[in-house]
Amino acid sequence: MAQQMICVEDFEKYAHTHLTPSVRDYYNAGAGAEFSLRLNTEAFKKYRIRPRFLRNVSRRDLTTTILGEKITMPLAVAPAAMQRMAHPEGECANARAAQEAGTIYTLSTISTSSIEEVAEAAPKGIKWFQLYIYNDRNVTLNLVKRAERSGFKALVLTVDAPLFGDRRADIRNKFSLPKHLRLGNFDGELSSKINSAESGSGLSEYVQNLFDASLSWEDIKWLKSITKLPLVLKGILTPQDAILAIEHGAAAIIVSNHGARQVDGIPATIETLSEIVEAVNNRIEVYMDGGVRQGIDVFKALALGAKMVFVGRPMLWGLSYGGEKGARQVLEIFRKEIDLAFALTGCASVHDVRKDMVQHESYYSR
Ligand code: FNR
Repeated sequence: MAQQMICVEDFEKYAHTHLTPSVRDYYNAGAGAEFSLRLNTEAFKKYRIRPRFLRNVSRRDLTTTILGEKITMPLAVAPAAMQRMAHPEGECANARAAQEAGTIYTLSTISTSSIEEVAEAAPKGIKWFQLYIYNDRNVTLNLVKRAERSGFKALVLTVDAPLFGDRRADIRNKFSLPKHLRLGNFDGELSSKINSAESGSGLSEYVQNLFDASLSWEDIKWLKSITKLPLVLKGILTPQDAILAIEHGAAAIIVSNHGARQVDGIPATIETLSEIVEAVNNRIEVYMDGGVRQGIDVFKALALGAKMVFVGRPMLWGLSYGGEKGARQVLEIFRKEIDLAFALTGCASVHDVRKDMVQHESYYSR
């Protein structure tokens, strides 16, 4: 009998046994001793939902508007590198799944499908492009122009990765991109350097050699000067940086700790969300990612002030299970679970999800 896939955890278990150890570890790993990786999911459990009843939830609408575009639910696909390691169609399959589900797909700079391939695979979907900035600024300029030409709707600048974190499994495995795959957006050494590891993680060496670790707020001005696309800053973890993001003209921020892959010992993103939302005070849109695995997690993030959440690893697990179909299944599970969470808490739309519908566990032990 075909395996029953009821929840995201089922896809995680499938991926755990079906991906090669090196790819599995690269997808799943967190930084350091992985304290924050565990915290990202555990911290959701510290928030308790306080449902309201008798509020007519016979019709429910999960849609929301993100940077002026309507999407069918408050959940989108996070940028994740090198998706063809999960399935031969990689990013193209994932982008098609997002298009079919009516939500946003974010393509990583270090993808195994090019900007143009993804645009062609999912021409009607809302697509955002995630940027890493290379030492050679012409590389970035070129990526931005290609994303614009291919109809991408926003640029997501990842601010938390001057270097990559200490991912111990990748060092042990000497992780590098398998030889039959390449970085879709580049030719020559910008692509081939990722296919080999000299002393440890090939990916880490790639980032150290090619990414611009001198990036500062000044560069946000430069980035804004070369494009008309809205700029989303991904990786904001403090109210101070959220305010700087507003001051530098960001259209939105993603409260994210990069799936706990950069600095170990940082808070779970759900823990930092409230104070950032408060500091932003509705001036720009605030999204979050990190550890979202169930509809109730999405509910909690919305209640604590996020306009939308992103999911990273769940989509890679879905891809590994069944390409586009598997990725779509994951999105539909989320949709079903979000809808049920809304129905059972008295919410007919995203506007009904209020801050007082979630309480931290400390409230109940007073
Ligand atoms: C990522 N993430 C990421 N972020 C980014 O800005 N550019 C990238 O290329 C990648 N690549 C990447 C690869 C893999 C394998 C993972 C797991 C993550 C981070 C990603 O966008 C997102 O912040 C986290 O994945 C969210 O956490 P969850 O949903 O995986 O718990």
